[in-house]
Amino acid sequence: MARRVGSLVPLAAAVLVLLVAAGAGAAGHDDEAAARRTMEEFAGFPASDGVDGERSSSSAAAAFYVDSDGLQRQIDELASFSDSPAPSVTRVLYSDKDVQARRYIKGIMNQLGLTIREDAVGNIFGHWEGSEAGLGAVATGSHVDAIPFSGKYDGVVGVLGALEAINMLKRSGFQPKRSLEVIMFTSEEPTRFGISCLGSRLMAGSEELAQSLKETVDNQNVSFFDAADSAGYKMHPEDLHNVFLKKDNYFAFIELHIEQGPILEKEGIQIGVVTAIAAPASIKVEFEGNGGHAGAVLMPARNDAGLAAAELALAVEKHVLESGSIDTVGTVGILQLHPGAINSIPSKSHVEIDVRDIDEKRRNTVIEKVHQSATEISKKRGVVLSEFKIINQDPPALSDKSVISAMEFAAKQLNLEYKLMISRAYHDSLFMARISPMGMIFIPCYKGYSHKPEEYASPEDMANGVKVLALTMAKLSLQ
Ligand SMILES: *[C@@H]1O[C@H](CO)[C@@H](O)[C@H](O)[C@H]1NC(C)=O
Ligand SMILES: [Zn+2]
Repeated sequence: MARRVGSLVPLAAAVLVLLVAAGAGAAGHDDEAAARRTMEEFAGFPASDGVDGERSSSSAAAAFYVDSDGLQRQIDELASFSDSPAPSVTRVLYSDKDVQARRYIKGIMNQLGLTIREDAVGNIFGHWEGSEAGLGAVATGSHVDAIPFSGKYDGVVGVLGALEAINMLKRSGFQPKRSLEVIMFTSEEPTRFGISCLGSRLMAGSEELAQSLKETVDNQNVSFFDAADSAGYKMHPEDLHNVFLKKDNYFAFIELHIEQGPILEKEGIQIGVVTAIAAPASIKVEFEGNGGHAGAVLMPARNDAGLAAAELALAVEKHVLESGSIDTVGTVGILQLHPGAINSIPSKSHVEIDVRDIDEKRRNTVIEKVHQSATEISKKRGVVLSEFKIINQDPPALSDKSVISAMEFAAKQLNLEYKLMISRAYHDSLFMARISPMGMIFIPCYKGYSHKPEEYASPEDMANGVKVLALTMAKLSLQ
């Protein structure tokens, strides 16, 4: 144990020295001998290959950089596989463009010498075998599917950036102990089949999803299996179980992602270390009343389904605020009235509610209170609560302490300012947390924009994220 701790400190010093040397900053010359020894010992640099130590150290330093131009070129190329014109990106699960994007990612994995595996639904794994391949691997990854008319960075930074992180470690001569793996997840976005994080949800062993996929069709009545088949993934429903992963498969999972919110940019902080991912619950509610003529039916005689919905929307806000936590949020994003005429009392209303929190119990308490309110409102207003359906209620996830400390360690070594923060959007990491210690690295994005063509992350911010990811993986790989 003491030896292991001791070995990590010089590694850190080594990487720091390498990075400082690679940049324009002043190098800590005192540490260079130790750095060289450590890199030789742990990162696989040749002890002597005809050059003196000074030069082999600086060539390693020269190799430990992010190829920002290359990364940007790849991001732009990937963005060209789109069903909508640039600068927007539309790339829907199992479409031709999705297939082209998959081919592109596999091409890069191939160039990097990674061993490629694809599971039944098309989750793609690029594997770099460590010296102790029997140990759980350190994995990273994200998605490249894109909702209609969105941008080119969401998810993509966590796939192409992860591949660049691998490239960087390879260039610097790093040799992993635990294997490293880059995952491209199938269908993080719910666009085609209404199921978000389809690939990671299955990996995490969702039997419920494996069952429901048998009946799932898209809005053109194309079944999930036919769609997969057309993209080259021919499978039997039973094959879905082969997607499930065992809990000890990964030692850690880290996802690099744009923040999709304004905090980092506003505060001028380079890295977000995510400590928890909030999870949504969605609810559908319907009220029914008698409707009637807006002039003829007097107020005491009405049972207005629209007013019941309006009152419920206010109740959602009230219950969320009563939780007392800034992390609890609730939204009524859909409120539809039937028949929807100015001179007709609404006879039906349809409300959809999204409640999120990082604390599952607190979120579920809000949902119970909303349910109570819906019942009370329906009684008071003489309308029927014809539906109160919880569509999904995924548990939130906490990042693992060991992964958080590896990410903090990396940011510190790189002299990057970082902030512990919560992910209020959810990601494949939410599901990976069910089967692996998990952590996420956020980078700033322009004005917090996401899911629209204006989405943007600067090359510098992406490079910082890639470096933190590379170091985090290197550190965890040696544990
Ligand atoms: C969808 O496809 C199934 C099977 O091909 C068929 O039985 C069903 O009628 C179709 N539904 C619609 C709405 O077209
Ligand atoms: Zn995403």
